[in-house]
Amino acid sequence: MKIAPRLVVWQREHGRHGLPWQHTRDPYRVWLSEIMLQQTQVSAVRDYYQRFLAKFPTVSALAQAPTSEVMVQWAGLGYYARARNLHACAKQVMQDWGGVFPTQAAGLMTLPGIGPSTAAAIAAFCYGERVAILDGNVKRVLARLFAIEGDPTTRPIEVQLWAHAHEQVPSAKACTQDTEFMSAYTQGLMDLGALVCTRGRPQCEACPLKKDCRARLEGRCDELPWPRTRKVLPERTVTMLIPHRLGHIWLEQRPTTGIWGGLWSLPECAQDLEVKLACQQLGLTVKKSETLAHFLHVFTHYRLTVRPELVLVEHTTTTPHTQIPIADKQCLTGQPSASTGQWVALSELAQRGLPAPVRKLLEGLLANGQLV
Ligand code: ADE
Repeated sequence: MKIAPRLVVWQREHGRHGLPWQHTRDPYRVWLSEIMLQQTQVSAVRDYYQRFLAKFPTVSALAQAPTSEVMVQWAGLGYYARARNLHACAKQVMQDWGGVFPTQAAGLMTLPGIGPSTAAAIAAFCYGERVAILDGNVKRVLARLFAIEGDPTTRPIEVQLWAHAHEQVPSAKACTQDTEFMSAYTQGLMDLGALVCTRGRPQCEACPLKKDCRARLEGRCDELPWPRTRKVLPERTVTMLIPHRLGHIWLEQRPTTGIWGGLWSLPECAQDLEVKLACQQLGLTVKKSETLAHFLHVFTHYRLTVRPELVLVEHTTTTPHTQIPIADKQCLTGQPSASTGQWVALSELAQRGLPAPVRKLLEGLLANGQLV
């Protein structure tokens, strides 16, 4: 049983055609979209994609940019290793490939951040190469179509799903007769997973594969695919200081490696360290501090409980306004910053690259009038 002919007809009539990364065969644009779309919804990616392209219109522009600028453009999209790999990949394309992306999935796969499915998607969209994709949505489609039991994120089940994905790759004949066949097929698989064969309440009546779908025929769409067996993630707790004064907030740029690399964030300290002492270490004197409601942020490898501490900073001189920094490295107390921290005007927060949970926290405080 081959699904390609029906899927291509369906994609052309009912699939998505207006996404900003479609109607191009420019591998830079397609690659960028595929990396942004890894583990991220189309709705979240759209604006980031357009802004990123406006800032870095070519692979050469991206390769030449400082890492911190790349991180700023990525801020809020999450999974920041993607941004670091993206930058490394652009540099490698410039250095090792003369600024031209490899034209086959096998070559693309040698680049940082490009796995087998992403490589295949780029090669199928840009060059019509006959290769199989297997992202999260496609796994769901195939697991239902062939009634594959087991956790699709585990290796043995992945191997089975890949085998089906390879078997379904359109024939050479179909792709020679119609040069857009491979890209319509690849987009069709993605679109079917996103629009019809959804995790909850799949629209089976609208599915072009319904007569062959084993899950549907056996009434098992609710049960397949099996849910991922969640790992128990380690727990961490930190205090996040929110030092503020006179319409400014103290932010620190995080090191380029590690979590939220290169983004501007709030100073953190161990849960049991006294707030006063932690602020002292930053050269800030506390006038008043208040513990706010804690919240949880889940990273790939651990769960972080954040205890925010709103800290009104004491002024050490009698002429406060003249002390507000003009130069970056000066702070309200008049001392140069010992860390990578600086006072940032509240009105300037929108232009800074902040991690999504930090932005959310600060925007909540701003809306409540808790930052002065
Ligand atoms: N997810 C991954 N790649 C995609 C694409 N090209 N279009 C829509 N969603 C996607």
